[in-house]
This record gives sequence, structure tokens and C-alpha cells, in this order.
Amino acid sequence: MVLEARELTVVYGGTAVVDGVSLTLPEGPFGLGLIGESGSGKSTVARCLLGLVTPTHGTVRFRGADISGLRRSRPYRRAVQIVVQDTEGALDPRMRVGTAITEVLRAHRLVPRAAEAGRVTELLADVGLTAEHAARFPHQLSGGQRQRAAIARALAVRPRFLVLDEPTSALDTTVQARILDLLRRLRSEHRLSCLLISHDLAVVEQLCPHVIVLHRGRVVEEGDLGDVLHHPRHPATRALRDAVPRLTPATPHRASLPQRPP
Ligand SMILES: Nc1ncnc2c1ncn2[C@@H]1O[C@H](COP(=O)(O)OP(=O)(O)OP(=O)(O)O)[C@@H](O)[C@H]1O
Ligand SMILES: [Mg+2]
Repeated sequence: MVLEARELTVVYGGTAVVDGVSLTLPEGPFGLGLIGESGSGKSTVARCLLGLVTPTHGTVRFRGADISGLRRSRPYRRAVQIVVQDTEGALDPRMRVGTAITEVLRAHRLVPRAAEAGRVTELLADVGLTAEHAARFPHQLSGGQRQRAAIARALAVRPRFLVLDEPTSALDTTVQARILDLLRRLRSEHRLSCLLISHDLAVVEQLCPHVIVLHRGRVVEEGDLGDVLHHPRHPATRALRDAVPRLTPATPHRASLPQRPP
């Protein structure tokens, strides 16, 4: 099964904010990083994949079929899920976490009523939360826990493709590392094909061996993350790399650190 975007162009107010972008997500486990500075068009590409934005030109195909005819199709809507940055209010603030997940199970008629509570507990356990968290409202969870709950809700429909749009940007680095660990485990256990959107190469490095660099809506670089880091061909890639201090070649300061005594 493949999700494939071909030559996507999205024009807003006369400007192409996405300009001829093509990408393919094969069957998982798989990870593709979509990186680029703020405003480069990353989230707009994601919205096209989810069928939330209709591209001005180009197509998105799911299992070979154009999604413009599939938007209401249950298999497509289940197969492609998204997890966004925590601050974007992925979870309804008025709904308890367990209720939010139950709602998804019901909308897709995934389990009989009697089995709903058990399935919610199972989904929460999978992301490291307990049944006790199911009774809480989003504001009663930490940022990391909220992100875990959002991931559990996305997984409730057993998706094949997961778009992660800056999933850890609102979290501090320790929590970020734990969420990335979780995503790595879930990706392999659920054989998910992930598109990870970020402006932070250090995050992408954790999950994606292959990356696409967007700049003003265009793909300016594509390839193995290591190659892209070591031989960036476009200034936009260099800027992204240089924004992550530990990814730049060792600085004189670092190189001159004393060796640890034996
Ligand atoms: N619905 C819209 N109408 C008009 N312009 C839009 C719309 N959505 C996005 N844009 C513009 O398109 C460009 C790309 O936006 P997009 O959200 O895709 O960027 P991004 O790469 O995800 O940025 P960030 O890293 O800040 O999230 C921006 O200039 C934005 O202002
Ligand atoms: Mg964005």
C-alpha cells in the first residue's frame, strides 16, 4: 500500500506556497522527514495528504486511487492519521481523554460497545498512560501526556500512515526524547509509514533515514539524511543544519576538551 503525492502545487493569493512537490510513503515501517524553515509549506503538504486541502495542481493517490474521489471513504480516512503540535489543541478541551478516544472508535464502528472501555485502556497503555488518565481532561495532563493521548487517539483507527507535524516542538528536550522513543517503537510495532514534519534536524535524525528539504514551497534537496547533512547543496539545508549545534562538525572548543583520565 502506498500514499503518493505527485507534483503538488497549492496557490494562495497568487503565490504558490507549495510548488511541484512529489513524495511517496510506502508500506511501513518507514520514516520520511519533511524539513524546511517556517512558512516553507510543510503543513500545507500534510493537509493535502490528508485531503484537507485540495491542491491547485497535482494529485494524491492512495492505493493508486486519486483521493479527491475518496475523501469520504472510510478506508482512506482511517489509513491516514495526523498528530500535530500540542499547542494546536489536537484534543477537545471539553472532552475527557477516554471519551475522545471512544468517540473515534464509535465513528469508525471499530469495537462493540461492551469492549470500548477495554480498548481505550489498551490504547492508552500502548502509549504509556493508564486508565486513570482516561478520566482526565486535556488540561489535567502534562504536555508530554497530552501528546501521548493524541497519539493513542490517532492509533485507535489502526492507521497505516501517520503524519507527524512538529509532534514534539512544544515539549522540552527530555520529554521530546521520550516521545520520539515512543514513536519509534510504535512505528515498528504497528508497521506505520511516517511523514515527520519538523524544522529541527535533531528531531528528524531520530526517526527518519531519508529526508526532503522544502524551501519556499519547492523541494530543494532530497536524499539520505547523512548525505544531506554532510554535503548540503542548498543554503536552506545548511541553515537548518547549522541551527542544531551538535550536528555541525566539531568546533575548536569541543575538540580541545581534555580527555577523560583513564
Ligand atoms: N489557508 C491559507 N491561506 C492563505 N495562506 C496560507 C494558508 N495556509 C498557509 N498559508 C501560507 O502558506 C505558507 C506555508 O504555510 P505552511 O503552514 O504550510 O508552512 P510550514 O512550513 O508548515 O511553516 P511552520 O514551520 O511555521 O509550521 C505560509 O506563508 C502561510 O502563510
Ligand atoms: Mg507547519
